[in-house]
Amino acid sequence: MTSPAGDLFAVAESRAPIVLGAQACVLRGFAVDRAPQLLAGVEAIAAAAAFRHLVTPGGRRMAVAMTCCGTLGWTSDARGYRYERADPLTGHAWPAMPGSFATLASEAAQAAGFDGFVPDSVLVNRYVPGTKLSLHQDRDECDLAHPIVSVSLGLPATFQFGGDARGDRVARIALFHGDVVVWGGVDRLRHHGILPLADGHHELTGAARINLTFRRAG
Ligand code: SIN
Ligand code: FE2
Repeated sequence: MTSPAGDLFAVAESRAPIVLGAQACVLRGFAVDRAPQLLAGVEAIAAAAAFRHLVTPGGRRMAVAMTCCGTLGWTSDARGYRYERADPLTGHAWPAMPGSFATLASEAAQAAGFDGFVPDSVLVNRYVPGTKLSLHQDRDECDLAHPIVSVSLGLPATFQFGGDARGDRVARIALFHGDVVVWGGVDRLRHHGILPLADGHHELTGAARINLTFRRAG
């Protein structure tokens, strides 16, 4: 029997990749050994470019707290969704992407069948219990030939993975600490989101889930 508290510390029982589509999969535990280093990197990024709640073009405050690193950072306000070279909060360039981040993303992309992925942008998402991310497509990047590589750290979450159309059937997949989801090619514009995060405590992140979404934006 697994207790609910036990589940919060769990990593997935099987390391076998989960196929989400012809060019989309979950690499179970792919980043687990590098998690402490990734989280230290996130702390350094947030010290220079603070987590903030962006406002959608429609005027809604996003529940997920976000920051970025890399040459381009994703942002949103009344003028729309877009990538910027400077953090609008400080006017300074986004923090550089740590080499270890880029290496992990390239290795995960390769393991999922995408050779030569070199990210230039990482969106760092922070969820606390109750926070969700509505179904959306990642489509602000210049060249959609590059995949998305998405790393889960800390508390588990339920990932929704739908189709190209918003109304398509949506699969629900539990994502655990260290899991990496990769989608690209024919699956690049699949809708995806995160259901409200359950309460919990993770030994490395406390009451939070951190997601790193690697993109080639420019
Ligand atoms: C995103 O779509 O930007 C984040 C997905 C996640 O948190 O796993
Ligand atoms: Fe996304």
